[in-house]
Amino acid sequence: MIKKAIFPVGGLGTRFLPATKALPKEMLPVVDKPLIQYAVEEAAAAGIDEFIFVTGRNKSAIEDHFDHSFELEKTLITKGKADALAMVHDMIHKPGSVSYVRQQDPAGLGHAVWCARNMVHDEPVAILLADDLILGQSCIAEMVAHYRGGNMVAAMNVPTDQTQSYGIITPGKDDGKLVEVKGLVEKPEPKDAPSTIAVVGRYIIEPTVFQTLSNSERSVGDEIQLTDALAQQIGKSEFYGFRFSGERFDCGSKVGFLQANIAFGMANETLAPELMSWIRGRLS
Ligand code: G1P
Repeated sequence: MIKKAIFPVGGLGTRFLPATKALPKEMLPVVDKPLIQYAVEEAAAAGIDEFIFVTGRNKSAIEDHFDHSFELEKTLITKGKADALAMVHDMIHKPGSVSYVRQQDPAGLGHAVWCARNMVHDEPVAILLADDLILGQSCIAEMVAHYRGGNMVAAMNVPTDQTQSYGIITPGKDDGKLVEVKGLVEKPEPKDAPSTIAVVGRYIIEPTVFQTLSNSERSVGDEIQLTDALAQQIGKSEFYGFRFSGERFDCGSKVGFLQANIAFGMANETLAPELMSWIRGRLS
């Protein structure tokens, strides 16, 4: 069983400036919920009950988001807003189940994950990148259900000209759901890419990856890459890409973020009728 999840949230979010000057990018809302809350709820749906945030400077809004807000709660009680009160209570996890570790330098995803090493013992752990928002079934829950040890990443096909935005898999055996990872390379140019099967920001890693990360050097983008550490595990243990059933939105890009807002709005039965009729009106 996977009980712990790491959420790397130390990134600067420069693509969303000025919105992210004082606001962590993970707090950007899709409809009415910040990206990070979707990721936490996705993990909770997989039975994960320990949440480790790897934060950085100016990220305190994330800590506040998952804590009590006594003024707000008192106001909601006074005004009799029971539903809103229940909602803010439900977001608060058991004391001691949420921890924060600070990544002092933004030295890459591999470095962020390594910063959480002392919170994880001899057990596999999930990693969720809040930028990758998935509509539909909990992707990490699907992965946990198929996990049989070793390492696993969420995988999807991307257009040929987008390989340089992703970790790309050299596929082995492939049954359409699970694809064996025979090689893994970070952000290759299309001409160098071994396939168009890309890693989406959901991982289950075994503890040895932390040891590998301890000795990792900076590579692509002058950052310590999780991809490189995972690539070093190939041949030593099982390693699969998992094709998940949901629809993934790249909320690290403006267009992806806007698409996510529209898709999640359309999936919301209260908002959908008005939103759809407005969209139809705009398109006619
Ligand atoms: C990270 C990983 C990359 C993965 C991607 C998924 O890249 O390094 O391998 O494909 O997330 O979103 P980033 O988007 O942080 O540059």
